[in-house]
Amino acid sequence: MRRSGQKAFTDFLGDSQRMHSAGPSEVTIAPLRKEELSEADHILRLAFGTFLGVPEPARIFGDRQIIANRWRMNPLWILGARLDGELVGSNVLTKWGAFGWFGPLTVRPDLWDRGIAGKLMGPTMELFSSWKTTHEGLMTFANSPKHLGLYQKFGFHPRFLTAIMQKKVEAPSTKRNRVTFDTFSGLRGDKERRAVLKECQELTDSILAGLDVSEEIKAVQELKLGDTVLVRDGSQTVGFAVCHVGPNTEAGSGTCYIKFGLAGGRAGAGARFRDLLAACESVGSQNGAETLEAGVNLARTEAYAEMRACGFLTEFQGVSMQRPNEPGYNRPGVFAIDDLR
Ligand SMILES: CC(C)(COP(=O)(O)OP(=O)(O)OC[C@H]1O[C@@H](n2cnc3c(N)ncnc32)[C@H](O)[C@@H]1OP(=O)(O)O)[C@@H](O)C(=O)NCCC(=O)NCCS
Repeated sequence: MRRSGQKAFTDFLGDSQRMHSAGPSEVTIAPLRKEELSEADHILRLAFGTFLGVPEPARIFGDRQIIANRWRMNPLWILGARLDGELVGSNVLTKWGAFGWFGPLTVRPDLWDRGIAGKLMGPTMELFSSWKTTHEGLMTFANSPKHLGLYQKFGFHPRFLTAIMQKKVEAPSTKRNRVTFDTFSGLRGDKERRAVLKECQELTDSILAGLDVSEEIKAVQELKLGDTVLVRDGSQTVGFAVCHVGPNTEAGSGTCYIKFGLAGGRAGAGARFRDLLAACESVGSQNGAETLEAGVNLARTEAYAEMRACGFLTEFQGVSMQRPNEPGYNRPGVFAIDDLR
């Protein structure tokens, strides 16, 4: 799909490969190749499963799919680490306009604490710099000094917690759930889609200059990962949520996962945010999901409160790390959903 910046990246890669394959270490960093996708996915599961101490580490996350879909979005934005040519880790980068973030970053467990993640971070930071992002972030394990120490070395600061929350999907017939909304897949033709993408971009730009999640909306549409819910005021889009639904997406079977959501405007944004959550629940219900999942940074105090009031319970808490050490769009008054997982 998106290939923009390919030349800049290739130029940068020439330098980076020379730099990161130099010296006594045989670790080289370069974009993940198609034939490495399944090994990268295996390492991802093994690494998280081992870190979290689950009984069968390689089976963690079930039929959720991250690596392959993000690779299809842009194969240059997943970096692979190789030791003597063998894949041993990867890092997935995302460019949301002026905001860059990364994750999941994983290294094969038998090779932990040998500096491989650090080697992946060098080209990661160079890629951000080639993108000219103004703000970068990630979410990691709040209770791990190692994780915080690793990212602090690259200028990221631990700030507020991010809660990954869930609620049971209720049938849209219940009173609270009855809300009118549109979907990106239901728009008529390219002209209308382009107009809505622009409105969504204006909404994101209003919370962080240059923030733009258009590629996520387009990927969900083109890769058939779910749908983007649109809350309208007349013909104007005032809120939207990019939802992954079902197996082989970032949601997994039985789940509707809001990858990014935002209700805009000052006055009435809380009510619009509630409508947005209800619309996502409806889309989940229509697609057979039993669980609605969404992450929110706790600095977005009102959004967090609204989610709790709507029945969401926290399943997991991580810490958001930001570079520079500024709130970005993690601040009161921002009715946004994301977790940078
Ligand atoms: C997190 C993970 C990617 C790290 O990979 P790794 O190759 O073991 O990490 P590295 O060896 O490159 O770097 C670890 C750094 O943390 C530092 N560190 C370790 N313990 C620390 C502590 N208590 N305080 C501060 N820093 C610490 C180390 O000193 C090292 O830095 P150095 O290379 O300058 O010495 C890997 O453990 C992993 O895959 N974990 C499971 C999945 C996961 O949690 N991914 C990250 C999600 S955000």
